[in-house]
Amino acid sequence: MSSNKEINPASSARGSELASNFTVSLNFDKRLYKQDILVSIAHAKMLGKQEIISDEDSKLIVSGLIKIQKEIESDKFPWDEKLEDIHMNIESRLFEIIGNQAGKLHTARSRNDQVATDIRLWIKDACINLIENSKKLQLSLLSLAKNNLNVSLPGYTHLQKAQPILLSHHFLAYFEMFQRDIERWKKTYNSADVMPLGSGAISGVPYNIDRKYVAEELGFSFISNNSIDAVSDRDFIVEFISASSICMSHLSKLSEEIVIWSSDEFNFISLSDEYTSGSSIMPQKRNPDFAELIRGKTGRVYGDLIGILTVLKGLPLSYNRDLQEDKESTFDAYDTTLACIKSANGIVKNLIINDKIMKTSAEKGFILATDIADYLTKKGLPFRQSHIIMTKLSNHCKKLGKDLSEISVEEYKSISKFFSDDVKNISVNQSINSREIKGGTSLNQIKNAIKNANITINQKWPK
Ligand code: ARG
Repeated sequence: MSSNKEINPASSARGSELASNFTVSLNFDKRLYKQDILVSIAHAKMLGKQEIISDEDSKLIVSGLIKIQKEIESDKFPWDEKLEDIHMNIESRLFEIIGNQAGKLHTARSRNDQVATDIRLWIKDACINLIENSKKLQLSLLSLAKNNLNVSLPGYTHLQKAQPILLSHHFLAYFEMFQRDIERWKKTYNSADVMPLGSGAISGVPYNIDRKYVAEELGFSFISNNSIDAVSDRDFIVEFISASSICMSHLSKLSEEIVIWSSDEFNFISLSDEYTSGSSIMPQKRNPDFAELIRGKTGRVYGDLIGILTVLKGLPLSYNRDLQEDKESTFDAYDTTLACIKSANGIVKNLIINDKIMKTSAEKGFILATDIADYLTKKGLPFRQSHIIMTKLSNHCKKLGKDLSEISVEEYKSISKFFSDDVKNISVNQSINSREIKGGTSLNQIKNAIKNANITINQKWPK
């Protein structure tokens, strides 16, 4: 079909023959093609239903848009940078395919409410995807917790041995962090789940449109209350990158522990070859590159967050072209976080646990010192006094170069008359299982925690 060159936005949109490279966003907003077409189809159907355009034109436009989607997906779409962005590329192609009726699609809308709607749809999908992949990571952590129920290791504070814990308890700590990330993406999803379309450029549109119908077609739960806010609001993007940044902080902690634990000094875990690489010069080395890269890429996502916050700072109402800068940070934060979650899952799934080394490490040193202090306290001593006795005891050990486990009952008794033979019953296992309170590391509590984690992970969302 032939089209009138005057009407096609390819020739008239900017009043100059070429868009300068500087304003072009096509190279990155191409990613919104699906959302843009969905939004246009819903809008065209509504225009037909409301008799703002004829039924015939509405159907013609929809068929053209479907054709365009097929072209894009089969790599046959004639992308044109001169048309600046995804919206103009699709609209201009529609002219080429169906002729001048294409000009009716942009009735009662503006690129301002269009792009805001597109990106909200995109963010909703992105949240679902991140949540699904985080759940896979949670499942891997959960199976490590289930399969290593009897493995104890030192728990650390200040990276100094503190108290013995179960390895499962340690992995379940990460389960909790990722669960909070999931909850944050769910909240972000809700923030994005508001449809701006109908806001027009800024003030609404002077047509009898049916916003509720379009929202239902697109799967939005709400429609925006204020057209000025709707075209300028990008809070949901800040929330999205913020939630992703927090997730990255969790992934970076996990990665850091993987790096430390797989070092020769700790040797608590071994990594599968798939997630390490050899050194080009030192043949004995296997470097934990994947974990290191996750740790490093955390910086990128934080950068994306600062980027979007800075773009939004001080913008006057309502739409400003600055807002075009929302997309690259969004896409980068998503791509990076998703890739890191997937890599973390791969590492965790293939971890080899050196349980004997962990166990031996938990048994050595002064890790039971708090338990011995608690023992004295339970015999009636104020805890602070028990603490003083323990300091004496550990000085005694250090002088002799002995571990607490190597001290005889007589030596204990010589330090304090509150010690009796049962002090020798204090052990790593006994210590762990004495933490029989909700949230504690006892085996019973861990079994319960695993049950609860199973329930959490099987919650269906969105309904
Ligand atoms: N590429 C633009 C963006 O991402 C689309 C909206 C342009 N609107 C306008 N009034 N120039 O924000």
